[in-house]
Amino acid sequence: MEKKKIMLVLGTRPEAIKMAPLYHALKAQPEVFNTVLCVTAQHRQMLDQVLKVFDMTPDIDLNLMTPGQDLFDLTAAVLKGMRNVLKAYQPDVLLVHGDTTSTLAASMAGFYFGVPVGHVEAGLRTHDLQAPFPEEFNRQVVSKLTNWHFTPTEFSQKNLLAERVPESTITVTGNTVIDALFWVLGRINKNVTLRQQLELFLNEQLGFDWQGVRFVLITGHRRENFGDGFLRICHALKELALRYPAVRFVYPVHLNPNVQQPVNTILSDIPNVHLIAPLDYEPFVYLLKHCHIVLTDSGGIQEEAPSLGKPVLVLRDVTERPEAVAAGTVRLVGTDRGRIVANVVELLDNNSCYAAMAKALNPYGDGKACARIVSILRDI
Ligand code: UD1
Ligand code: UDP
Repeated sequence: MEKKKIMLVLGTRPEAIKMAPLYHALKAQPEVFNTVLCVTAQHRQMLDQVLKVFDMTPDIDLNLMTPGQDLFDLTAAVLKGMRNVLKAYQPDVLLVHGDTTSTLAASMAGFYFGVPVGHVEAGLRTHDLQAPFPEEFNRQVVSKLTNWHFTPTEFSQKNLLAERVPESTITVTGNTVIDALFWVLGRINKNVTLRQQLELFLNEQLGFDWQGVRFVLITGHRRENFGDGFLRICHALKELALRYPAVRFVYPVHLNPNVQQPVNTILSDIPNVHLIAPLDYEPFVYLLKHCHIVLTDSGGIQEEAPSLGKPVLVLRDVTERPEAVAAGTVRLVGTDRGRIVANVVELLDNNSCYAAMAKALNPYGDGKACARIVSILRDI
């Protein structure tokens, strides 16, 4: 039997985390698949962090990140870069993930070149093209040209069916982020030396007893929050930090200058606010496991935190991940300063409210999403 040449294309930190277990699952069957990894490097440092943790070596690296890159340059660069890659490698299948600019432009390149596309984490929708921007546009366009849709939940499957995507092209697989999370948790649980290294590293980074005191873990990077939204978020955090001096606020700050600027300006001189560099995936997951509350606008963290029983307050008005909201462990609080403060205060002060949200559940998968995707790819 001729091997199938499968090319995975990824550009950013979350794509790399969520495609890592799939990459290894494909690589584990060398008699069936010739697996090729292409990175656009839309992210550089934050992508390289993940490639290292998951032991992934790109076959092609387009090295496209430029500081403060805009959507025009990035989209054009990925599209043109992928033309040459597809010509040179002629893959049988192109696998893309989610909704970034790399995902959009790489799948368009596949479509132009006549390579069928498999879309991992397909079918997420807010139905509002401005939120998240530009991701909702990206994911809707990618669905139009996808041949195999791998959806994380039945809810996302229904979104595609409502858009008249043929049912036979959709497989509900679970989200591969849960595969990645279980993989890392398993490694941390099994390996005492790794655990000690992580603890030492986090002690150095944070300088407080993070295993003993309550701390809020914060991340944020959504484009639609840039400007006033981020200012309101930062002022809410400042108010909370001053009101609760015994609670720590840990914030690994995304490298986007639109995030760095307001966060560093407003929050850098507050003793119980810890602004740190983006963490490698292992220390981040370990911190997630130990935190009290999560405050985030991230997609991936909304999916991971419920598995660990952590209440999540989402700094957005809408989410394409309603499953955990329905289950009561995730709440949308937007970017209004008063609303953010009130919701954190409620979780810090009201034990029964906290207990109601701190339930461990896995609406996004069972850790076997990659096996399901691989079994579909074997049969095509
Ligand atoms: C991107 C994705 C977003 C995804 C997010 C995950 C788009 C339009 N946005 O947003 O969907 O949720 O990644 O984090 O696809 N930078 C660095 N080093 C890095 C990464 C970024 O310095 O490793 C800085 C650079 O100045 C870069 C800027 O951040 O120009 C913006 O990066 P970009 O990928 O355009 O946007 P993100 O906000 O990271
Ligand atoms: N993450 C990480 N280090 C950090 C912050 C987040 O490894 O300092 C991980 C997190 O566990 C999740 C992913 O990065 O798996 C989310 O990435 P991000 O929030 O940048 O993007 P999104 O999920 O919103 O697209």
